[in-house]
Amino acid sequence: MENNVILSVSDVSKHYKYYKTLFDIKKNVIKAVDGVSFEVYKNEVFAVVGETGCGKSTLSKLILGLTEKTSGEIYFKGELLDYKNKKKDFRKKIQILFQDPYSSLNPKKKIYKIISYPAVRNGIIKNKKKDRMEFALEQLKIVGLPETTALNYPHMLSGGQRQRVGIARCLSVRPELLILDEPVSALDVSVSAQILNLLMDLKNETGMSYIFITHDLKLVRHIADRVCVMYGGKIMEIAETDDFFKNPSHPYSRSLLESMSFLTSTRRNL
Ligand SMILES: Nc1ncnc2c1ncn2[C@@H]1O[C@H](COP(=O)(O)OP(=O)(O)OP(=O)(O)O)[C@@H](O)[C@H]1O
Ligand SMILES: [Mg+2]
Repeated sequence: MENNVILSVSDVSKHYKYYKTLFDIKKNVIKAVDGVSFEVYKNEVFAVVGETGCGKSTLSKLILGLTEKTSGEIYFKGELLDYKNKKKDFRKKIQILFQDPYSSLNPKKKIYKIISYPAVRNGIIKNKKKDRMEFALEQLKIVGLPETTALNYPHMLSGGQRQRVGIARCLSVRPELLILDEPVSALDVSVSAQILNLLMDLKNETGMSYIFITHDLKLVRHIADRVCVMYGGKIMEIAETDDFFKNPSHPYSRSLLESMSFLTSTRRNL
């Protein structure tokens, strides 16, 4: 399994300091992520679950370099993940698909510009209208949107269509790891099923890995290879999905499953 590791998170913490009240002299510390270690393998779906505030989004920010670690190291394909290292294209290799397709696209830009922007920024294509349009049309095809979408603005699209644009934008730089932070929670059931099918097809075609952050255990059971349970910034358990649902080893995992009435049924019912 060693060579199959795409991401290795080693004893990583993020402690935020803040004043609780205006009169505080000393800052309080919140351990948003507290000494977590795990590996993500190539082409797997690694689900991260846990109650609100347990540190899931902070973890993704740490992996994306959007916030400084308090301690610990992260390795991408065996190399220290350091976004300041200009010789490496880590920023291209690790992308995030945001939760809310309504606010994650620039409302003032046409879709072809939104989709082609990361490719321009990363020098994959030239910043010429013709090149950007050609590139965007290819990407639109991959995510199943008609060519006419290219000239639309985000407000002209449905939530599902916007999320497809978001996926096209992520894929435009050929990432190897995609972080999906509640990618379908803002969509209705049938549209979210289509988006999930698209994501799973793309994963299988490209060999990408997903870190899939969600509250939806039904979804986890359906799509994840492994499950990581977080609580209070720490990892409680990491298990193969089937093992997790059959025999959760940590009491918190059991209570999570009980709250979803999963222990009474082992049927895959998505
Ligand atoms: N910039 C910040 N400053 C101070 N505290 C923060 C900051 N960002 C997050 N936190 C705190 O860190 C903890 C973890 O937050 P985080 O957003 O990672 O949770 P989450 O698991 O993603 O929750 P949710 O499921 O609601 O999205 C929370 O208690 C949050 O209030
Ligand atoms: Mg979050």
